[in-house]
Amino acid sequence: MTFADINETLVADRGITRDDFLRAVTDGLSKGRKELPCRFFYDEAGSILFEEITRLDEYYPTRTETAILTDCAGEISAGTPAGSVIVEFGSGSSTKTEILIEAIPQLAAYVAIDVSETALDEARARLAKKYPQLKVETLVADFAAPVDLPDVCCNRPLLGFFPGSTIGNLTREDATSLLRLFTDGLGPRSRLIIGVDLRKDPAILIPAYDDAAGVTAAFNLNLLVRINRELGGNFDLRAFAHRAIWNADAGRIEMHLESLKRQTATIGGSEFRFERGETIHTENSHKYEIEDFRAMAQAAGWSLRKTWRDPQGLFSVHELVAAES
Ligand code: SAH
Ligand code: AVI
Repeated sequence: MTFADINETLVADRGITRDDFLRAVTDGLSKGRKELPCRFFYDEAGSILFEEITRLDEYYPTRTETAILTDCAGEISAGTPAGSVIVEFGSGSSTKTEILIEAIPQLAAYVAIDVSETALDEARARLAKKYPQLKVETLVADFAAPVDLPDVCCNRPLLGFFPGSTIGNLTREDATSLLRLFTDGLGPRSRLIIGVDLRKDPAILIPAYDDAAGVTAAFNLNLLVRINRELGGNFDLRAFAHRAIWNADAGRIEMHLESLKRQTATIGGSEFRFERGETIHTENSHKYEIEDFRAMAQAAGWSLRKTWRDPQGLFSVHELVAAES
């Protein structure tokens, strides 16, 4: 094995190469405003911390979307032809998928796509045991790049599934491009069930991203833990603090890691300097008005067939239909 092969070796358990990770970290920390891509949150520890976030009292999205999906699953099922395949993007633990699997007995297969191989392995094992009649396929892949769907999808009606408001983690421009990629990938007349978090009082939003038990802080800081472990970084974890900020103009919660002192971190032989108070921007979580989202989906080749919301108007689930061609 050559040095280049070793560098291209998959980072254990994640399906992301060490080179990809190092390049993204070096690029992000070299910017005037330092940033790191949020897809790197989800190593094994990060996926477990995310699951813990979903159970927090303050984190309303998961329980709210789960309740909406439970209510509308029958309607989704009624519009789903026999032999359909669910293709889920950013499937994580595939917990919400079970609501659809149970409501759609006419389903032929389920395809789960995620960057976290550990999350996919656990989900596949659980679903295979629980639904032995269902064909389950997993793909370790970046959903933001064109994905070759497995053969099981050939000549079958496809039902895309993109829950959790993961779309909110992209800028509006990138979200529109991603929806366009899904239109192209799923094909004409396919459907997409997508969860979108709604704009609301920052008094609800801030605690959802800065919980009292510090789970979200641990999730955010785990990015530095991962850099230290996988890229040989030397971040002093006590010298950075989690921050969650509501950016009203952009309509998003931003997560940052704030440097608590003037310091230097070394990663892969490169030095990165931090002023006291300087931040690394680690995640955006956009919150939409329904009309905004409809316009964005339409610009990407989808028409909005149906929207469901919880009674408090916290979260929304949409059924989108791709144009004929
Ligand atoms: N859909 C689940 C999980 C949401 S967490 C739910 O609603 O609860 C976001 C998931 O998307 C994580 O499992 C993460 O690993 C995955 N993810 C984030 N960015 C990704 C990308 N670019 N490509 C593929 N998966 C990604
Ligand atoms: C996956 N994604 C939609 C979550 C969110 O709410 O933006 C990730 C997350 N970040 C902090 N808490 C949860």
